Amino acid sequence: MSKRVAIFVSGGGSNARVMIDRFQAHPEDGVEVVLLVSNKASAGGLAVAAERGIPSLVVKRDDWKTGKELLPALEAYRVDLIVLAGFLWLIPGYLVQAYPKQIVNIHPALLPNYGGKGMYGHHVHQAVKAAGEKESGITIHYVNENYDEGDIIFQAAVRLDPEDSPQQIAERVLRLEHGNYWRVVRGLQARRGGDL
Ligand code: GAR
Repeated sequence: MSKRVAIFVSGGGSNARVMIDRFQAHPEDGVEVVLLVSNKASAGGLAVAAERGIPSLVVKRDDWKTGKELLPALEAYRVDLIVLAGFLWLIPGYLVQAYPKQIVNIHPALLPNYGGKGMYGHHVHQAVKAAGEKESGITIHYVNENYDEGDIIFQAAVRLDPEDSPQQIAERVLRLEHGNYWRVVRGLQARRGGDL
């Protein structure tokens, strides 16, 4: 039986696109993306999902606080695993408790460095550039109630050229995300256990 995944996005959704395309083309991976959740009606990730026939849900602030609409939707789609892919709202306690060790995030830096509130997207790459780092990378981790603090599952580094702009750092890091996130998701156990 396939592991059933909901991807959460706030923006362009390139990680969501790569993951959906991979798992749609490779049913033998045993992962099915069954729902896309966005906190923004304008998120590019919604178009990505629509083009690929994946149902989606836009959550509003008020519902996010209580989960009144979100939790029944996750239940209805029998979601085993939540994959955050550029999702910027803090995950509330009720969701962490409903999906213990079944929510993962990707962060575009080598945590614990360059993480925490306000450290997302270009802010991360600008900080890495300003510090003159020789490498950056990606961190895939379980999600708890604090930004970027859950247990680390996987990291990969990429060497930086001293001439790299923050935009070029972002591109190098994003390539690494696209090559690795789906592999890590494929390797995770779903909570229903058994033959997954
Ligand atoms: C990715 O680089 C992801 O690591 C980052 O947002 C980007 C989303 O790109 N996430 C964070 O910064 C979370 N703190 P995408 O929408 O094209 O997948």
